[in-house]
Amino acid sequence: MSTKRLLQALRTQEVETPAFVYDEVQLADDARLAKDAIAGDRTHLLFAMKSFSVPGGLRAIASAVDGFHASSLFEARLARDVLGWRGVVHLTTPGIRPGDADDLFHLCDHVSFNSLSQWEQFRDQAAGVTSSGLRVNPRLSNVADERYDPCSRHSKLGASVDDVAAILRTEPHRLDGIKGLLFHTNCDALDTTPLLETVRYLDRMIEPLLDQLDWIDLGGGYLFHGAEASEGIEGRLPWQNRARRTPDLDGLHAALDLLRAKYHMNIYLEPGASVSRRGGAFVASVVDLFQSSGRTVAVLDTSVNHMPEVLEFQFAPDVLGDLERGGHPYILAGATCLAGDVFGEYAFAERLALGSRVIIPDMGAYSMVKANMFNGVNLPSIYALEEDGTLALQRTYTYDDFLARAGGGHYVHP
Ligand SMILES: Cc1ncc(COP(=O)(O)O)c(C=O)c1O
Repeated sequence: MSTKRLLQALRTQEVETPAFVYDEVQLADDARLAKDAIAGDRTHLLFAMKSFSVPGGLRAIASAVDGFHASSLFEARLARDVLGWRGVVHLTTPGIRPGDADDLFHLCDHVSFNSLSQWEQFRDQAAGVTSSGLRVNPRLSNVADERYDPCSRHSKLGASVDDVAAILRTEPHRLDGIKGLLFHTNCDALDTTPLLETVRYLDRMIEPLLDQLDWIDLGGGYLFHGAEASEGIEGRLPWQNRARRTPDLDGLHAALDLLRAKYHMNIYLEPGASVSRRGGAFVASVVDLFQSSGRTVAVLDTSVNHMPEVLEFQFAPDVLGDLERGGHPYILAGATCLAGDVFGEYAFAERLALGSRVIIPDMGAYSMVKANMFNGVNLPSIYALEEDGTLALQRTYTYDDFLARAGGGHYVHP
C-alpha cells in the first residue's frame, strides 16, 4: 500500500476504527506485476481468493488477472459474482461435500481433485461439466515450519507423485479423464528455484500424464515483488525470507520455458499473498495507556484476532512510524482478554495518547479472511482507498452480525 496516499487520506477524511483499508490501486498494481512476471504463450494468472476476498478489492484485482482460484463453494460463488462468466475459476480443496459437488462443478472451469480417492468418487459427476484435474504432491519440501509445509510427511494435500507414477506404470486407465494437474508447494518464497526443481521432477516422474493434459497449475507461494515493507519502515518478515529482499524469478522462467517447449498445455499460476499483502492495512486507535512492570502498554481497539496469523506465526507486524532506535517505547496490545493478544514492542518519535492512530500496513493477505469476533470485539469496518484518494466506507459490522455468527436471529428478551 502506498502509505503516503493512506496517510494523506487519513489527514482529511474520517475513518471509524478499527478499520481495514484496502487500496484498489496497489491491488491492481501487484496483480499486474505478477502477470508481467509470467507473461508469455499460454500462461495465465489466477488470484488465490483464500488470501483476500473483499468483493470491492476482488473487482480491482479482476481487472488485471485471468481469473480466480477458489477453495470452497462460497469462494467459487463469489468468484462468479465478481467475474460473471468471463474469467477462469479454478478450485482445489481437500474437502468436497457430496451435496456441494454439482454446484462446484457448474461454477468452476477446472477442479483439481485433492486425492485419487476424491477423483474416483467424483469423476463421473464432473465429466462433461468441468475440466477435471489432480492435485499432486511432489513431497519436495521447501518450508521449514511443518504447519505451513504442504509437502510435509503424511501431507493431506495432493496425491503423492510416487503413487501417481506407480499407477501410470501399472493401471494407467485410472487416470483417464484427468485433464489438468495442480501443485502448490511453497509459502512466501522469493526464490523460485524450487519451482523449477518441482517441474523437472514431474517431467521425470510422470511425463506420460503431462502429455495428456490441457492445463497445469503451478500454485502460489511465491512473491513477485521484493519483501520490503512500506515506505519508511524496515520490514520484519515472517518465515524464510529474512535474508533475501528481492525476488529471483530465474527458476520460474526456466520452468515455464521447459513446460512450453515440451508440452502443449495452458499454464496457470495462482499467487495469493503476492497480490493482496501490500494492498491492505489496519488503522486502529489507542484506547488505554498504562504502566506494567516498567513498560508502557498501549491497548488498541483492534486485536490479533483481526489478523490471526500474528498469533499463529508469532511474528510482530510492521507498524508505521516504528523506530529501530530511540523514540518512546510501547507494548502494543489487542483489546481481548487473551494474554497473548499482543502485537509486539514498538517505539515512536511522538508519544502515543488516547485516540492516537496506529497503522499496521502490508496486512492485506490472510487477515480479514481469518478475522473473528473473539470476546465480542467487533470486526474492523472496511474502507476502500480509491484511485483519487477517497476513503469509501464499504461495510461496518453491528451487534446483529455478532448475534448471527453466534447462531441467534433477532434477540428478543423472553
Ligand atoms: C492450492 C493453493 N494455491 C494458492 C495458494 C496461495 O498461496 P500464497 O498466498 O502463499 O501465494 C495456496 C495457499 O495456501 C494454496 O493452498
